[in-house]
Amino acid sequence: MFKLELLSRAHDRDAFDCGSEPLNNYLKQTARQHTERGISRTFVLVEESASESKPVAGYFTLNICQLRAEQLPAEMARRLPREVAGVKLGRLAVAKSRQRQGLGRLLLVAAMKKFVEVFDSAGGIGLFVDAKDNEAKTYYERFGFIPMPDNPLLLFLPLQTIREVLSGTL
Ligand SMILES: CC(C)(COP(=O)(O)OP(=O)(O)OC[C@H]1O[C@@H](n2cnc3c(N)ncnc32)[C@H](O)[C@@H]1OP(=O)(O)O)[C@@H](O)C(=O)NCCC(=O)NCCS
Repeated sequence: MFKLELLSRAHDRDAFDCGSEPLNNYLKQTARQHTERGISRTFVLVEESASESKPVAGYFTLNICQLRAEQLPAEMARRLPREVAGVKLGRLAVAKSRQRQGLGRLLLVAAMKKFVEVFDSAGGIGLFVDAKDNEAKTYYERFGFIPMPDNPLLLFLPLQTIREVLSGTL
C-alpha cells in the first residue's frame, strides 16, 4: 500500500530514477526548496510501511497558474473572462521499477483531488499540464486531458471531467 506525502527531508530522493534526467534532477535538486518557498508543491508516493529515508515511488508537482482564455478551445473560451486561473501539474513521474503498475494513474487522481481542494477555497477552472513530448501527451489524453489548439503539448482537464473521474463515472 502507498501513501501520498508532501516532500520533506524524510524522503530519499537520491535513488529516484524515472528514466528522464530532468525529472530525476528536479526531484533531487530543486523540488524541496520550491516546496518550502511556495514556488510549487511536490507530493511523493511512498510505501506505507517506510519509516526513515523513505524511497520515492513517484511524484507530482503542482502550482497555481494563470492563462488567457483564448488559449482554450473556442467553445470553452466564449464563456470565460479574458484571464483565468487554474492549477498546473508541472511534473509527474514514476520510478522505472514501478512503472506500468497503475501508480501514474494513482498520482493523477491524487492531483485531481488536490485541485478540488484548491477549487473549494479559491476556484480555478481545472488542471493544466505541459506534456514533455507526444508520448506524454497521449498518456494524459487517456485521462480526458484536452490539448490546447495552438499548443498541443499544453493540455487541460476541466473541472467537470475531474468531478466525473473522482465520482467514478469516467
Ligand atoms: C508516464 C508515467 C508517469 C506513467 O506512469 P505509470 O505508473 O507507468 O502509468 P500507469 O501504470 O498508471 O498507466 C496508466 C495507463 O496508461 C498507460 N501508459 C503508461 N505509460 C504510458 C505511456 N508512456 N504512453 C501511453 N500510455 C501509457 C498504461 O498502459 C495504463 O493503461 P491501462 O490502465 O489501460 O493499462 C511514467 O511512465 C513515467 O514516469 N515516465 C517518465 C517520465 C514522464 O514521461 N512523465 C510524463 C510527464 S511530462
